[in-house]
Parts: sequence; structure tokens; C-alpha cells
Amino acid sequence: AQRWSIAMQRNPAARLCLPTGETPRPVYAIAASVIDLDAATVFLLDEFDLPAGSPARCDVMMQRDFLDLLTGQPKVVHSLDPSVPDPDAECRRYESLVADGGLDLTLLGLGGNGHLGLNEPGSPADAPTRVTRLAPSTAEAAGRYGAEAEPNWGMTLGMHAILESDEVWLLVSGSHKVEILERTLNGPIGPDVPATYLRDHPNATVFADRAAAGR
Ligand code: PGA
Repeated sequence: AQRWSIAMQRNPAARLCLPTGETPRPVYAIAASVIDLDAATVFLLDEFDLPAGSPARCDVMMQRDFLDLLTGQPKVVHSLDPSVPDPDAECRRYESLVADGGLDLTLLGLGGNGHLGLNEPGSPADAPTRVTRLAPSTAEAAGRYGAEAEPNWGMTLGMHAILESDEVWLLVSGSHKVEILERTLNGPIGPDVPATYLRDHPNATVFADRAAAGR
């Protein structure tokens, strides 16, 4: 949170991509009181196909876990809308919004299966922003976030746009992430664990707690 606050002082109008889920929650809780995002632009990383207002929707989690805690508000918050008639067109719209100016900083959680956003195992490094079928473990995770029913699909910023971000911070916490973090750092780079692509990124940093970094 401190490092993020310093980054925002250096570049108040930063274009940020932010994740939701369990991992970033404590970071947001601390960052909210030390950070100034008033001139920043925020892009949500992904979204589940769930009804508007569902507690597991990424826009709802972002509002509750971060935006509601800030005293100011980012200049703009962009998100992917799964309820539009043409979700593929919605993904293309998002891809151009992100590409038009790029991303200065992207924060990510690490999926238990190695996904980044909803770039599930099998995603190539040049995957565009798109509609994705969810891995069973990802659909289950939505249940843990409070979804009334498991979503089947979602929309995600593509692997390509993530890797184009000037800087990437991968947040990893908890002993249940120890194995996937070990594979992310030491396993073969490739689509089986999309997070391994970050090893080819020129400015990616892993922030792990002791439990996750145990190996
Ligand atoms: P989590 O999810 O932070 O809730 O563990 C991470 C992810 O699936 O990207």
C-alpha cells in the first residue's frame, strides 16, 4: 500500500488495472487511507456472468472492498458489462479503451490454477480481452465470494493487455497458494500456468506473504 501510494504521488493520473477477490482486500483496506486516486483512471480486471448487484460481481466487490473506503474517487472507473446483448463487442470496446493510453500499473491476484484475471489455463500470451469459459475451480471461487449460483462464463482483460502494462504487481497470500506460486516462479513458462508469462515481463514484481512464499 505504501509503495502504491508513492507510485501515485509520482504519477497521479496513472491508468490502473485492479483485481477483486480475497487477496487484494487487505491491501485495499490499508491503501484506501493513504492513497490519492482523484486523477487516476481505473479499469477492472474482469467480470463474472452474474446478475447486476450480485455480491460476487467484480464491480460490486470493487465498490465494497475499495471504492467505498476511499475519501476521494478515481476520475473514471471502467468495467466490463456482461449483461449487454453482444458481450464480444463489449470486450472489443474494453480492449480499445485500455489500448488507447495503455496501463501504467496492473495489480493481480494469482488463481489457484495459475490464472490471471480470467485468463484460464490454456490461454496464450497474446490472448485478447474476451469472453471466457470458467474453469470449475474459478466458478467455485465465485460461490465463495457469495454468488447465488455459479457463473459459467466471464469476461477478462486479455493476457496481451496485461503483459503490455508498464508495471505489474502479482499479490499472493495464504498457504493454499504455495504450490501454484512455486509453479509460477519455477515451472515451465507457458499456457498451463498463465501466471508464468509474467517472468518474461520487464517490470513484474511478486508480493507474497510468508505462507504463500513457503517454497
Ligand atoms: P483470490 O482469487 O484472491 O480470491 O484468491 C485470485 C484469483 O483467482 O485471481
